[in-house]
Amino acid sequence: MLDSIAFIGGGVMAEAMIGGLVEGKLVAPEHVIAGEPLEKRRAELESRYHIHTTPTNIDAIREAEIIVFAIKPQMLMRVLPELKGALREEQLVISIVAGGRIAALSEGLHHSAIVRSMPNTPAQIGEGLTVWTCTPVVTVPQRKKAAAVFQALGKEIFVDDEKYLDMATAVSGTGPTYTFLVLEALIDAAVHLGFSRDIAHDIVIETMLGSLLFALKSGKHPAELRNMVTSPGGTSAEAIYQMEKGALRTVLSKAVWAAYQKSRLLGESVGKAEPRKPMDA
Ligand SMILES: NC(=O)c1ccc[n+]([C@@H]2O[C@H](COP(=O)([O-])OP(=O)(O)OC[C@H]3O[C@@H](n4cnc5c(N)ncnc54)[C@H](OP(=O)(O)O)[C@@H]3O)[C@@H](O)[C@H]2O)c1
Repeated sequence: MLDSIAFIGGGVMAEAMIGGLVEGKLVAPEHVIAGEPLEKRRAELESRYHIHTTPTNIDAIREAEIIVFAIKPQMLMRVLPELKGALREEQLVISIVAGGRIAALSEGLHHSAIVRSMPNTPAQIGEGLTVWTCTPVVTVPQRKKAAAVFQALGKEIFVDDEKYLDMATAVSGTGPTYTFLVLEALIDAAVHLGFSRDIAHDIVIETMLGSLLFALKSGKHPAELRNMVTSPGGTSAEAIYQMEKGALRTVLSKAVWAAYQKSRLLGESVGKAEPRKPMDA
């Protein structure tokens, strides 16, 4: 159970976390506060979850045991100076900001207890995966609380080096995008064969879901599962030939690599001051 938690930014991901934490009774709603500039959004969060909200971030953090940064990367440089030096040593910062490096957060806030994480979009239905790491000063009880916060979004995996966060951004953070594109392509292929779009959607989604659960529950290597259904000269062998000829594996590998490079680039810019416009000079 968490004593109190504050959110800086009350958007989609903050709401997923608030919903999971309040509904899972991990924190009492009166001990949750969200700093959010938009009045309409504050009213929505208050009425849906009975939490407190404020337009002023500094007010949000005052009493909180844990402070979650759930703002867009480009807002980080605006928010960090507002809160610099305002945190107490025992307060824990959890960031879900894509590309927001620990050094940028730590220097920007003048604070050392920091958790950096990368959730993904299925978090919005409690089926997310969050990969996270933390600074050495984060205590074991604080780590347990951070894990509980991420469990409100689904599963969580701790990694012991920040370098894995850029990798996770490319694999799990961006992962739903690969999945949705493959899903869409297979649905279109089924429509091409002659199925109605509704039936094509259901057939493909159930097939993908069933195959993933089978892979998960059987614990077998994907190649083994594939070989089990690839009879000599059969339909699977024919389909695999076309996928290999079309370099599907290479395309996926290049996509993941490109996402990784982009994440690293983003990390170099997030949390750095924006270049001054000529008129500011
Ligand atoms: N969505 C995902 O699946 C996902 C996955 C991994 C990581 N992330 C990361 O999670 C973070 C939040 O993403 P999101 O999808 O929740 O974005 P979002 O819905 O746009 O939420 C951001 C919220 O922050 C508010 N905000 C803007 N300026 C602020 C300020 N100065 N102080 C406090 N709040 C402010 C925004 O209000 P306004 O609407 O009024 O601007 C908005 O409600 C991002 O850094 C993203 O990279 C998201």
